Amino acid sequence: MSVRIADEAARVFADPSAYADEARLHAAMTHLRANAPVSWVEVPGYNPFWAITKHADIMAVERDNLVFTNSPRPVLTTAEGDAQHEAMGISTLIHLDDPQHRKVRAIGADWFRPKAMRALKVRVDELAKTFVDQMYERGGECDFVQEVAVNFPLYVIMSLLGIPESDFQRMLTYTQELFGNDDAELQRGESMEERGLALFDMFTYFNEITAARRARPTEDLASAIANARIDGAPLSDIDTVSYYLIVATAGHDTTSATISGGLQALIENPDQLQRLQQNPGLMPLAVEEMIRWVTPVKEFMRTAQQDAEVRGVKIAAGESVLLSYPSGNRDEDVFTDPFRFDVGRDPNKHVAFGYGVHFCLGAALARMEINSFFTELLPRLKSVELAGRPEHIATIFVGGLKHLPIRYSLTR
Ligand code: HEM
Repeated sequence: MSVRIADEAARVFADPSAYADEARLHAAMTHLRANAPVSWVEVPGYNPFWAITKHADIMAVERDNLVFTNSPRPVLTTAEGDAQHEAMGISTLIHLDDPQHRKVRAIGADWFRPKAMRALKVRVDELAKTFVDQMYERGGECDFVQEVAVNFPLYVIMSLLGIPESDFQRMLTYTQELFGNDDAELQRGESMEERGLALFDMFTYFNEITAARRARPTEDLASAIANARIDGAPLSDIDTVSYYLIVATAGHDTTSATISGGLQALIENPDQLQRLQQNPGLMPLAVEEMIRWVTPVKEFMRTAQQDAEVRGVKIAAGESVLLSYPSGNRDEDVFTDPFRFDVGRDPNKHVAFGYGVHFCLGAALARMEINSFFTELLPRLKSVELAGRPEHIATIFVGGLKHLPIRYSLTR
């Protein structure tokens, strides 16, 4: 049996406050990549796990999806959270493995293909213009995260689902409560029970949508989900609601965090902002770089179904591994000068969308949204600077900036 290396630095993965301090986080990850790329982590309150920090190892684990499965522990939560999720029986795409995963993924897949994206582009461009116009009307100062970035992707995803605009605010609160779960400013209540209520409210809401779409099918993703069949049978109520839940939550904070973090990176690297404004053709590469830079999904987990090995380290059957995407995306073996924000970075083989059979279903949509937003904003942006201290959300799963106070000048 090999000796388990348990490097203290790997405790950051179970520390929500570490993700709110990027310098500390990246110092720990850089240390781990060099000294303990596969490190055993035992932290009070969490079931133990292995932290995987090298890009190549993240890809190797994801590729080997029969040995390393998403079930029963797809993301890192507290031991209490692990038990609660198991008891609730939630089974979204990220909880499933093949062959069931493939069948369930197919229900929504058509809605995210290039043809569907082209159809949605007009609406996305229109929304991007609406939000940049609102910035103009605000007169030159705002908290970019709370006043602009959180709303735009939510409007896009709700439009795709076919949810009425009057319910958008409610959805925004639910998703922030769910994903802001480790942040005192955003979470609901103090106890696990109170926070579980946020999930319950979301379930109640989507149950109503399912009933409505089954009674009267419409041309939207919500209707496709409500009326889907697997092996001839409809999805159970819990599986139907789980599907909405994954699309609504996965498609929202991830994209808004990337747009906010992307803008912060442009402000802090004025040469890159100018370069992009002068060469709008660089936009697709700049979008990829923003996604790498921000890496809003901090981790997913896999559990070994049999004894396995990663970088020569033995992983026993039943043990879980945490895939650290922010670390993989700063890996010196893959990226030249990984801590430089470069809007022309090419190639840019980041793992921010994961890899393999669970590769982000909404990647094309996310890219299109970020592209539309900056394509609208940058030609109109005459100046921009920070008007206060940017603040990050405390999280161990999905997140990024919580506040980005900016001062700017825009043309109409
Ligand atoms: C910049 C924005 C986004 C990032 C960085 C991101 C990242 C990720 C990552 C890392 C995964 C897990 C992949 C894996 O396990 O290999 C994932 C899965 C997923 N994402 Fe995204 N995502 C983003 C935006 C979106 C959007 C806009 C949607 C659309 C609604 C979406 C829907 C999903 C779904 C449904 C899954 C589960 C796929 C599966 O398990 O088969 N994501 N995403």
